[in-house]
Amino acid sequence: MTRRLRLAVLASGRGSNLQAILDSIDSGRLDAEVALVLSNTPRCLALDRASQAGITTCCITNKASGGRANQLARIHDALVKADVDLVVNAGFNLILSSVTVEHFQNRMLNIHPSLLPAFAGGMAPKPQRDALEHGVKVSGCTVHLVTDELDAGPILAQATVPVLDDDTPDSLAGRILVEEHKTLPNVIQWFSEGRVRVEGRRTFIVPEPVRQQIAEAAG
Ligand code: GRF
Repeated sequence: MTRRLRLAVLASGRGSNLQAILDSIDSGRLDAEVALVLSNTPRCLALDRASQAGITTCCITNKASGGRANQLARIHDALVKADVDLVVNAGFNLILSSVTVEHFQNRMLNIHPSLLPAFAGGMAPKPQRDALEHGVKVSGCTVHLVTDELDAGPILAQATVPVLDDDTPDSLAGRILVEEHKTLPNVIQWFSEGRVRVEGRRTFIVPEPVRQQIAEAAG
């Protein structure tokens, strides 16, 4: 029997994407378990949501670690120790070490509130403000694999929303967030089903589980 996909969710603030993952698991739309919620911000809403759901939490701050290098090393150790299959950056405002990125190659996701590669970098409301200032007519969210280049890893899924004439960064962010809450759990479910294939910069969602195809090919 294969085990359920074990997730670590990394979040620094509000945690609405974490909540969308938890709700999708509760409703049976997502077959996975959140083994760890890790934050770099003490007393954030994401940690409250995790505790309320009875999930193991861990907060690793720069200050308590005695500097950035130690903080990143402690985060790495916590993720490895949690024995997770997939790491999900869901509103995490820290760039992980290259060692961690390499360790979880093709097993670490990020969600960004723009249609990448446009308006990469920065946390809300910066990408939304940049999109408005640029005058684009559609925006949205992107779920991608994490590589050493910021917000530039292979794209797994995108969802679009219209940009309206009277939008503010906040109103646009709210419209994008609705799509984020659907897109991120959907992508995680593809991983759970073993359907994600990565070829260079391109990704493909195969109709049948990859592991099933391999088993069939083997005999
Ligand atoms: C989201 O807009 C996400 O795309 C970005 O940070 C925000 C996190 O929101 N990376 P929340 O903490 O999940 O509510």
